[in-house]
Amino acid sequence: MLSGRMGRPMQRAFQIPEFMATGSKPSDIDADVIVIPVFQGDAAESDIWDAACDGDILASYQRGAFSAKPCEQLSAQPSGWRSRRLLLVGVGPRAGFSSELARRAGACAALTCRLQRRARVGVVVPEGWQDDAIESLVEGLVLGNYDNGHHKSTEEGRFFISRVEIAAPGDATQAVARGQRIGEAANAARVLINEPGNHLNPSELVARAQQMLAVPDVTTEVLDESRMKELGMGLLLGVGQGSASPPRLLVARYEPQDAPASPVLALVGKGITFDTGGISIKPSEGLERMKDDMAGGATVVAALRSIALEQVPLRVLALVPAAENMLSGGAIRPGDVLRGASGLTVEVNNTDAEGRLILGDALWYATQLSATHIIDVATLTGAIVVALGKTTTGLFGTDGWREVIQAAAQRAGERVWPMPLFDDDREALKSEIADMLNSPGRAGGANTAAMFLKQFVGTTAWAHLDIAGSAWAEDVRPWAIKGATGVMTRTLVEVARSLGKNWP
Ligand code: BES
Ligand code: MN
Ligand code: ZN
Repeated sequence: MLSGRMGRPMQRAFQIPEFMATGSKPSDIDADVIVIPVFQGDAAESDIWDAACDGDILASYQRGAFSAKPCEQLSAQPSGWRSRRLLLVGVGPRAGFSSELARRAGACAALTCRLQRRARVGVVVPEGWQDDAIESLVEGLVLGNYDNGHHKSTEEGRFFISRVEIAAPGDATQAVARGQRIGEAANAARVLINEPGNHLNPSELVARAQQMLAVPDVTTEVLDESRMKELGMGLLLGVGQGSASPPRLLVARYEPQDAPASPVLALVGKGITFDTGGISIKPSEGLERMKDDMAGGATVVAALRSIALEQVPLRVLALVPAAENMLSGGAIRPGDVLRGASGLTVEVNNTDAEGRLILGDALWYATQLSATHIIDVATLTGAIVVALGKTTTGLFGTDGWREVIQAAAQRAGERVWPMPLFDDDREALKSEIADMLNSPGRAGGANTAAMFLKQFVGTTAWAHLDIAGSAWAEDVRPWAIKGATGVMTRTLVEVARSLGKNWP
């Protein structure tokens, strides 16, 4: 019934290429193109490939046509190779190399291969690349094998890479498998994030999340309105009450047999399937983007899937409060007072500050499920975009735990930046008639939103990732198409992998 009403995409949005490690020399790989990442200013390295291409590569360097800047690409025809084409991809200078640049190289190479309709790809991993970089490169190749055309009625003009053969100096099996899994999960999240509001309401979101979580050692449970009422979740119910599609709360548990009883990591993701702003309605310009307001929810689901498939020995929960923020005769009004499950009452002076409301109930519920460490991910505030721009995720939270997330993001090659939380921000939330306001005004808008969330976690270690800027790419870049980015999937997996190392 669900799929009948909401409708599934007609086409697939991405393909996971078959990956295989090869012991072959680059010249012996049977593929339509051989992708070779190269460092900027590393002439000697390019020499190896230049010899096969009759001096074409060095000639391009000398002409200034190619210098191996990040994502810069050069095609050449090697003679005497099994593959007739070679694609050099720049990763910038060796000194500034990072997982992020490796992922971008993989993604931009994949986009080029698809444009040139090359289905079978060989990849040569340069000497000295660590597992983190190889994992990111593979993740990038998978991310680049994605498009948004799944609602088109024909496959015309769409092309995907079907096979990737990787030649690495050492044994790259694990790094390749990890990169493939994370890329696949992030792509599945991107499909959900890009899905229009009429295709994805709260119950459809949780149904599709459950499909993603149909993996070993994960169980899922969906709380409906009557269960939410029993628990007193007036914040989630309040936000959801204006919509014809009722709210849901997805609770997923990954409980591997070998995991200790504690710690328990809870990942909580905002799941607003469409944000009109409610009665405090948003302006219509750019409103169509508000279908991505469940990006946090999709991300925590993708991360849990990867963590479970990787069999990380740690108990992890994922919670997704899902609602549609609509206006109707039944919608909450500005000035309404809601009471959440934690007992705190909130004066809703702006119905557009809905994310913090639904997260309030979900964060509290995570503490009730005995989470010892919480991370929430949310497209929460326009203010974080003003503060950090469109590609950096804002990080708030408990001292110590915040640094764990920051270090994981660094390894994962995702941009997060720490933001402050001072007690003064709590003052701004003061309400005359309730325990707090949900919208304290423009000053420090991302900080006061984080301070609001903090009121629901008690003494549990908690971090908040505001992805309002980073979840969505407005402009086409060499390594990414427009739309959902899948950002923070890899960081969350990295946090889980870092279990026990420096956890407060
Ligand atoms: N979903 C929005 C935040 C958002 C804005 C995400 C732009 C992506 C791009 C959120 O629900 C919202 O509307 N926040 C308000 C809060 C304000 C009313 C206190 C905002 O940021 O303007
Ligand atoms: Mn809003
Ligand atoms: Zn929102």
